[in-house]
Amino acid sequence: MPDSWWPMFPADFVADGRILLRMLRGLPRAGSHAERLQGFYAPQAERYDAFRTRLLHGRDALIEALEIPAAARVVELGCGTGRNLAAIEKVRPVATLTRIQLVDLCPALLAVARQRVLGMANVEVIEADATLWQPATPVDRVYLSYALTMMPDWRAVLANAYAMLAPGGRLGLVDFHLPERGSQLSNRFWRSWFSHDGVALSVEHLRTLQSLFPHSITRECRAAVPYLPGLRAPYYLFVGVKP
Ligand SMILES: C[S@@+](CC[C@H](N)C(=O)[O-])C[C@H]1O[C@@H](n2cnc3c(N)ncnc32)[C@H](O)[C@@H]1O
Repeated sequence: MPDSWWPMFPADFVADGRILLRMLRGLPRAGSHAERLQGFYAPQAERYDAFRTRLLHGRDALIEALEIPAAARVVELGCGTGRNLAAIEKVRPVATLTRIQLVDLCPALLAVARQRVLGMANVEVIEADATLWQPATPVDRVYLSYALTMMPDWRAVLANAYAMLAPGGRLGLVDFHLPERGSQLSNRFWRSWFSHDGVALSVEHLRTLQSLFPHSITRECRAAVPYLPGLRAPYYLFVGVKP
């Protein structure tokens, strides 16, 4: 699975071409939120991980910053294909955790996640809306990677994530955003570029997180975008501790 431009083979470029075509067509305008996600991701599901590795930066750094404790109970909201499990495995073997619950609304991506977790008895893949789903008992870690910007009622998602955390638990996010100090031109460009695919960038995400969690760390970064040499999209990494 390529995580850089090399090694990439002609078949990879053809597969990327299909993804880019789907992205150029944008998120379908009609249907429920779940139907629109399915329409957008179903044609990309097989190649999702390979392409997004070069677009969605900072996910492994987020998992490291969560400092997942032994025997933790962990929830990912908007898990997609469950790709972040591999990052968890590097810092804390998944089998040693009490439970990991992966939640998403898109059946096509969840089908990939279900294949990935075959044989992992403590990992559960759940089709549900991140604004509403709650675990049976409070959890130690909740995280979202590049998902909040695709959740129209993102304030409800953050409130729900906060509610499911045990005291002392951590909420972590990595996502695209509009930097407070970004130039108007640059922020306008990225907002409109991402909105075509249903990704809603805002300065409000980070502001809201920082006010919800007085004890937190934030890193603001920029990273390369596949096939757009020279352009660097703004993203942040945030981890907050629930008092
Ligand atoms: C860009 S993908 C990121 C997936 C994964 N976290 C990753 O890093 O590859 C955004 C994900 O959010 C999911 N999503 C969007 N709205 C949702 C909602 N209301 N509830 C649950 N998942 C949602 C989408 O189905 C999609 O899988």
